[in-house]
Amino acid sequence: MAKYYHITTYGCQMNVHESEKIAGLLNEMGYECCDDVQNADIAVFNTCCIRENAENHAFGNIGMLKKLKANKKNMIIAVGGCLTQQIGKADILHKKFPYVDVIFGTHNLGKLKDYIIKKQSNKKAVIEIEEDDGNLYEEIRSLRTSYPNAWVNITYGCNNFCTYCIVPYVRGRERSRKSKDIISEVKELVSLGYKEITLLGQNVNSYGNGTDEISFPELLAELAAIEGKFRLRFMTSHPKDFSEDLAKVIAANEKICNCVHLPVQSGSDKILKAMNRRYMAADYIEKIETLKKHVPDCAITTDLIVGFPNESEEDFAATMELVNKVGFSSAFSFVYSKRDGTVAAKMDGQISEEISKMRIMKLIDLVNSQTREQSKKYINKTVEVLCEDYDKKKGLYMGRDEYGRMVYFNSETDLIGEFLNVEISSANGISLLGKVV
Ligand code: SAH
Ligand code: SF4
Ligand code: F3S
Repeated sequence: MAKYYHITTYGCQMNVHESEKIAGLLNEMGYECCDDVQNADIAVFNTCCIRENAENHAFGNIGMLKKLKANKKNMIIAVGGCLTQQIGKADILHKKFPYVDVIFGTHNLGKLKDYIIKKQSNKKAVIEIEEDDGNLYEEIRSLRTSYPNAWVNITYGCNNFCTYCIVPYVRGRERSRKSKDIISEVKELVSLGYKEITLLGQNVNSYGNGTDEISFPELLAELAAIEGKFRLRFMTSHPKDFSEDLAKVIAANEKICNCVHLPVQSGSDKILKAMNRRYMAADYIEKIETLKKHVPDCAITTDLIVGFPNESEEDFAATMELVNKVGFSSAFSFVYSKRDGTVAAKMDGQISEEISKMRIMKLIDLVNSQTREQSKKYINKTVEVLCEDYDKKKGLYMGRDEYGRMVYFNSETDLIGEFLNVEISSANGISLLGKVV
């Protein structure tokens, strides 16, 4: 009988790619993917804990499988990802959901196969969380599910300890893969026909730091020299490590998209200091100016947090001012979420929900109005789009231009994986509508 798995992914792109690694492991065990968890022999939750709502979401969905598991005793439920890696969380999960069979962490992902086999011959739940041991996961073959896009880790972990952030605690210390491994992975992907490669790391700019590896701009230049038509993207860049060399490499290489995600978090120096971001608002603006000097058309996207402890009206106004000044092509705005174990969780001056809500609404309005303004400028222009998907609801194909803008268009034939020229006829907020020319 065929064996099926179903994976539910939460969190960032890194987690999405990790689910492709989990899928690779399950595939090696003879399991095939299925869309409906009801049919699955194994259900895996790849969790996130960046904000409280990510955690609640995972808890809710694991809870919903109780009934299914009661009717399908042999089904294996496994929970992994950042949530389980928090101190004490695996035990809490086990107590709350005793029917979960396997609980594993971010550092021992590669042992999932062993845990499943162990569970199959064992009544007791298998709970295995390991400490960071510098794992680079080289032995895992991903089962990629996002053609024509592919994700490639270049670093794992984070050393920055921004005071609000749980990532360094659940992902361990920053470590870089060998450039030769990254280059051969990208070469292979290009030869397999992948058209957009996104390099992943919590802080890609510090790639190679403290080792004898090449720098991030050098790595990008080497990757851009690989033959074939494909795009290169990367995320996330930390402003403190964003260098002029990087701006020059983007400018010099056609394949590197003129689009940079550079999270600023706040426009207030007081808050940036309390966040331990290690740059001031003026430094950020200066980095943007340097980037624009070399890449004038570069699209800049960002992440913003409102309601960090002690954020006053003036601090929030400084964030609004910075957003006004930079003109982001899009931004993710978040309400600060207290994470146990982080430095900020112990700070006095936590901001009330009402104030945070008001601030985030104002911020989202501003960001959206900037995005809409920029979208309008696209009308009647022709852009090169990489067709990524077919949107069944809309009945249209969908792709992105190099600036990351979503473009919808009609086609009678399957265009997924092709570069096309699309003339934009209208703009709807962040997305554009056009026709292939
Ligand atoms: N390494 C990346 C992003 C990691 S998490 C970077 O440094 O930019 C993605 C985003 O989640 C962050 O940029 C931040 O804006 C947001 N975030 C992280 N922790 C948060 C918290 N406790 N509350 C609200 N937002 C948070
Ligand atoms: Fe978190 Fe800061 Fe590291 Fe990003 S750089 S993952 S926000 S600690
Ligand atoms: Fe990503 Fe969430 Fe972990 S944002 S690194 S999956 S805490």
